[in-house]
Amino acid sequence: VRTGALSGRHVIVTSGPTHEPIDPVRYIANRSSGAQGTAIAAALRDMGARVSFVTGPAEIAPPEGVEVIRVQTARQMRDAVEAALPADAAVMAAAVADWRIRNSSAKKMKKDGSGKAPVLEMTENPDILAWISRADERRPRLVVGFAAETNDVLAHATDKRLRKGCDWIVANDVSEGTGIMGGSENAVTVITDDGAEEWPRMAKDAVARRLAQKIAGAIA
Ligand code: C5P
Repeated sequence: VRTGALSGRHVIVTSGPTHEPIDPVRYIANRSSGAQGTAIAAALRDMGARVSFVTGPAEIAPPEGVEVIRVQTARQMRDAVEAALPADAAVMAAAVADWRIRNSSAKKMKKDGSGKAPVLEMTENPDILAWISRADERRPRLVVGFAAETNDVLAHATDKRLRKGCDWIVANDVSEGTGIMGGSENAVTVITDDGAEEWPRMAKDAVARRLAQKIAGAIA
């Protein structure tokens, strides 16, 4: 695929974790460095795409040359994705918290000396991938989701693709010992309508470039 194959195309990429506040100084979050999402945004940019990069508080800096929209929570991420539409493709690489704290506190919670710990109630966050996949006339032509699994990767990811309604799922094994979580390499299986493609283990940058080429093949 030629350089510039994605010029004139707009792609939304979500990346990083979301932070869901417990109180002004505490939060719950998923583990995510933002490395794979950042690499994907850079690879799409390098192929000429206009990229809206919607990122939670990640460990690494966002790429240059993309529009960076910083958010904290899943609800903010959903609103930012919606505001960035329309798009030709959406790549949802963020590790979004599935739940937020229902009874979060506007003031810092304090120990009251009774020895009793607070009870946190959770409520479900919007599923951004499932929502955009079913966004009728605003749905990007190509919607790509991720599936980080620790077991039965292929079965879970195949099921997830149908449940979420996205076109492709990029599945990876993040079980302990793979070194993938927070590491510089990834080993993914890309699930499409045509079945599952197992890619060899390679640098996250290389996964990103190969995925960007595949995206160009679909929407260029
Ligand atoms: O269900 P699960 O979280 O494993 O699905 C992962 C995929 O769904 C990823 O592409 C992730 O970015 C997306 N997702 C989302 N909004 C959520 C939860 C997950 O977009 N609330």
